[in-house]
Amino acid sequence: MPETSLHNEKIVDQHTQQASGYAKLTGSMAGQQRVPRHLAIGARPDDELLDIACGPGSLTLALAPHVARATGFDITPAMLDQARAAQSKADIQNVEWVQGDAAALPFADGSFTLVTCSAAFHHFENPAGILAEMVRVCSPGGRVVVSDVTPDADKTSAYDRMEKMRDPSHGHAHSVPELVALGRGQYLGDPSIQTSLAGPMSYEAVLATSFPEQFTRDQLLELMRDDARCRADSNGFKAELADGEVLVTYPMSTMIWTKR
Ligand SMILES: C[S@@+](CC[C@H](N)C(=O)[O-])C[C@H]1O[C@@H](n2cnc3c(N)ncnc32)[C@H](O)[C@@H]1O
Repeated sequence: MPETSLHNEKIVDQHTQQASGYAKLTGSMAGQQRVPRHLAIGARPDDELLDIACGPGSLTLALAPHVARATGFDITPAMLDQARAAQSKADIQNVEWVQGDAAALPFADGSFTLVTCSAAFHHFENPAGILAEMVRVCSPGGRVVVSDVTPDADKTSAYDRMEKMRDPSHGHAHSVPELVALGRGQYLGDPSIQTSLAGPMSYEAVLATSFPEQFTRDQLLELMRDDARCRADSNGFKAELADGEVLVTYPMSTMIWTKR
């Protein structure tokens, strides 16, 4: 097991603070956008699912009723506490939760038929290494699925700058071509790619679950208000004003690879 890096300490620190607010935010979005997007992954009744960086478990629990057995895996214990609470509320039995770093998954080669990761690749220090781990624990013919925010290639730097101000544990949001490139040379065929939008949602609600270190929430809200006024989408996600409220919409993509 590699030593915990400074980056992972920041991940755990931020996500411990975010856990209950993020669970509420994603829980309230679940019925509208996230679950249909997740079910489009095409889970099968005999699938053995591993959902890495599962957070409060919204994807794990959305897929669990459609698979034989599900495992949610995350580095932040407070996120797994939220996941256990959501599991018990939903009364879903076929799920277990494991804590650890996805850079070194504690599972044997080929243990799962469906390995997913949603809304987390932008946090990883070594995304190619984590994708290699996802591929290693997936059986031949199984599917490896990565879903994340995907700004246009010419906006990823602006997106990263804005997101690091909001969440200091943000790393790098990949464009679709970057995600496709990550999958090359990993025993994967060409991915099928689905695109979707997350939002519009209140930026104040997003900020309410954020713990910026060098900026106030009001400063970040003002930056996005300016962006919305200019209608420039200069940060790689859409910002608009509705009755004075800043609404944001994030471009999402889901890559579905089949392991050779
Ligand atoms: C934004 S949340 C996404 C949660 C969930 N997958 C979803 O779609 O809502 C990011 C999660 O990634 C987890 N994470 C970040 N780096 C990780 C790593 N190296 N290993 C395991 N989990 C990690 C964090 O603890 C956090 O729960």
